[in-house]
Amino acid sequence: MFVSLLFGAAVVAASPTTVARDSPSAVTISQNAPKDAGAAILHPFVSFSIEFASFPDFAGNLSLPNKFSNQLLDNLADLQGFKPYIRVGGNTQDFALYDPNLKTGINGTVVPAISTDYPSIVYIGPSYFESYATWPDTKFSFGFDMGKNGTEGMDTLLATAPLACKALKDGKLAYWEMGNEPDLFKTSAPDTKRPANWTESDYVTEWLSKTRLVKRQIAKACPEMAKDTEYQYIAPSFAGIGNSLDPVKTWQEGLDTYHDIKLNSMHNYIGGATQPGVTLQRTLMNHTSTVNSVQQHVDLSKTLNEDGLAKDIPYILGEMNSLYNEGKPGLSNSFGAALWGVDFNLYCASQSIRRTHMHQGTDYRYASWQPVATNKTTIGTKAPYYGNIMVAAMLGGDSDNDNSDDIRVVNLPLAKDTEAAYATYIGGKIARIAVLNMQEYNYTGASTSATRPTASYSFHLPDFSAKSLSVHRLMANGSDAITGISWDGWSYNYELKGGAPVRLSNITVGETVSVDANSGVVELKLPYSSGAILNL
Ligand SMILES: *[C@@H]1O[C@H](CO)[C@@H](O)[C@H](O)[C@H]1NC(C)=O
Ligand SMILES: *[C@@H]1O[C@H](CO)[C@@H](O)[C@H](O)[C@H]1NC(C)=O
Ligand SMILES: *[C@@H]1O[C@H](CO)[C@@H](O)[C@H](O)[C@H]1NC(C)=O
Ligand SMILES: *[C@@H]1O[C@H](CO)[C@@H](O)[C@H](O)[C@H]1NC(C)=O
Ligand SMILES: *[C@@H]1O[C@H](CO)[C@@H](O)[C@H](O)[C@H]1NC(C)=O
Ligand SMILES: *[C@@H]1O[C@H](CO)[C@@H](O)[C@H](O)[C@H]1NC(C)=O
Ligand SMILES: *[C@@H]1O[C@H](CO)[C@@H](O)[C@H](O)[C@H]1NC(C)=O
Ligand SMILES: *[C@@H]1O[C@H](CO)[C@@H](O)[C@H](O)[C@H]1NC(C)=O
Ligand SMILES: *[C@@H]1O[C@H](CO)[C@@H](O)[C@H](O)[C@H]1NC(C)=O
Repeated sequence: MFVSLLFGAAVVAASPTTVARDSPSAVTISQNAPKDAGAAILHPFVSFSIEFASFPDFAGNLSLPNKFSNQLLDNLADLQGFKPYIRVGGNTQDFALYDPNLKTGINGTVVPAISTDYPSIVYIGPSYFESYATWPDTKFSFGFDMGKNGTEGMDTLLATAPLACKALKDGKLAYWEMGNEPDLFKTSAPDTKRPANWTESDYVTEWLSKTRLVKRQIAKACPEMAKDTEYQYIAPSFAGIGNSLDPVKTWQEGLDTYHDIKLNSMHNYIGGATQPGVTLQRTLMNHTSTVNSVQQHVDLSKTLNEDGLAKDIPYILGEMNSLYNEGKPGLSNSFGAALWGVDFNLYCASQSIRRTHMHQGTDYRYASWQPVATNKTTIGTKAPYYGNIMVAAMLGGDSDNDNSDDIRVVNLPLAKDTEAAYATYIGGKIARIAVLNMQEYNYTGASTSATRPTASYSFHLPDFSAKSLSVHRLMANGSDAITGISWDGWSYNYELKGGAPVRLSNITVGETVSVDANSGVVELKLPYSSGAILNL
C-alpha cells in the first residue's frame, strides 16, 4: 500500500518480507536543540562555485542572459529563503589574463596536456563582467588571478580590480578571493605555478602584497568598496589539508594580518574521478565515507580555534563536490550522487561548516545543471540539483539574518553506512527530520518483476503534540537514474518549464505518517536509494 501510494499504479506493492528493519530501535528526537547541534548556518547555506571560464555559459551576458540558471537559483531561494551565493573561481581563475581588445567575454583554449575539461589558456575581455549583471538579487565572490606572475599577471590584477568592483558595486559583492588552491601551485604538474621552494611564508607575503595592490585599485575606482567593513576576503581557498602548504602554518604566518578575511574557505572532494576503488556505494552513498571526509575540516577548525588563529572566522567549504577532476560519468551525475549531496551537505551543517559552495562547470559530470547545449552534454537540470533542493528544503524557515531564528542541524545516529538522518532546529525548536536510505538500487539492470526493497525508520517524539507529520520525498527510479527525479512530486527539469517547478502527475503527494498516540513513535518507510523530510 505504501509503495503504491508513492508510485501510483505503476509499481506493485512491496510484500512485507522486503521490508528490512534497518534501525529497529527508534531514535529519540528532542524538542529543543541539543548541545551537539552544529553552529547556526550562514544564509544562504546552499551556494555554488562556478568555474571562472564557464561563468559566461552559466550566467550569459546582457544580450543573452541565462534565464534557466536564474530560475534554478530562484527555486533554491524559495526553499531556503536566500538566493545562493555564487563564488566565481576555480582552476581557470589562475589562468585568466585580461585582454582589453577581446570582443567576446572569454577566449578559452584547451591544452589537453593540462585538462580536456576546461581551457588553460584563458583571456577575458571587458564584456566578461556583464555576466555578473544577468541574475537579479545575486551576490558573487570574485576570484582574482594569483597564479600568473610577472608582468602579465600584474597587469591583469591592476586591470581587473576596477572592472570587478564596478560590476559588483551596489550590493552584488559577497567577498573577494585571491587565488584558487595555492597549496597545489608547486605540485600540480605539468602546470606548476611556483617553484618547489615556495613556502607558506612566501605565499602569505604574496597574498598580502597582491590584496593591498587590489585594494589601492579599488580605492581609486570604487572608493566606498575599499572601506574596511566592505573590503573582505574568503581565504585561503586551499584544495585540502595535507598538500604542499599547511593551513595552520599559513595562518601562523599572518594571512589575516589586515583583518580582512571574513570566511575561512577550504575546498573538498570526497574522492577522485579516476581514483582506483571509487564506486557509488563505497565512496558516495556511504555516510562513513562522508564523516571521514568532513572530519579533517572539523579537526583543522578546532586546531585553528585552540591556537587563537582564524578565531571567530566562520569555516566554509568555498568549493566542493563529489569527485575531483570534474566527476565520474555514471557516478557523479546519478541520483545516488544527489543522495550523497544531501548527506554530505547536511553533515557539514551539523559539524559547524557554515556554508557550502557546490562546484559547477560546463560539461562537468558532477554539475547540478548544464547551462547551455554543447556537443558533449545536453542542456538541462541534472540529478545532483535535486539533492541541492532537498538540502534547501531542510534549511528554510529563517526569514532574516538577525540570529533570532537560527537554523541548526543535528546528525541523528543510525546504525549503517548506507543510511543517515538529520534534524533541523529553528530558533532552538525542532522543525524537520531528514532521512536517507543509501542502499544502492539499480533499476536499469533489474528484472521487470523485481520489487524495490524498503527500509523502515522509527523516531521517538516524546511530549510532542503533533498527531501526524507531512512527508516530502526525494525520489527516482533507482540510484543509477539520471532523469525522472522528483522532490515532493515537483520536477525542475528544463524541458518542462525551463527549470520552473512543475507538479508531476505520476507521483502521489500529500502523504502523512501518524505519530503513535501511546508510544510517541513515528515510522517512515523509505524505498532503497531515496530520501524524505518529515515536517513537524
Ligand atoms: C553574449 O553571449 C552570446 C551567446 O553566448 C555570444 O554569442 C556573444 O558573443 C556574447 N556577447 C559578448 C559581447 O560577449
Ligand atoms: C584566442 O586565444 C588563442 C590562444 O591564445 C589565440 O590563438 C586566438 O587568436 C585568440 N582569439 C581571439 C579572438 O583573440
Ligand atoms: C610573484 O610576484 C610577486 C610580486 O611581484 C613577487 O613578490 C613574488 O616573489 C613572485 N613570486 C614568484 C614565485 O615568482
Ligand atoms: C627557489 O627556487 C627558484 C627556482 O628554482 C630559485 O631561482 C630561487 O633562488 C630559490 N629561492 C631560494 C630562497 O632558495
Ligand atoms: C564505507 O566507507 C568506509 C570507510 O571508507 C568503509 O570502511 C566501508 O566499507 C564503506 N561501506 C560500504 C557499504 O561500502
Ligand atoms: C565540440 O565543440 C567544441 C567547442 O565548441 C569544438 O572545439 C569541437 O570541435 C566540437 N567537436 C565536435 C566533434 O564537433
Ligand atoms: C549497480 O550497477 C553498478 C554498475 O553496473 C554495479 O557496479 C553495482 O554493483 C550494481 N549494484 C547493485 C546493488 O546491483
Ligand atoms: C521510471 O519507472 C517508470 C515505471 O516503470 C517508467 O514508466 C519510467 O519511464 C521510468 N523513468 C525513467 C526515467 O526511466
Ligand atoms: C514520472 O514522469 C516523469 C516525467 O514524464 C518521468 O521522467 C518519470 O520517470 C516518471 N516517474 C515514474 C515513477 O513513473
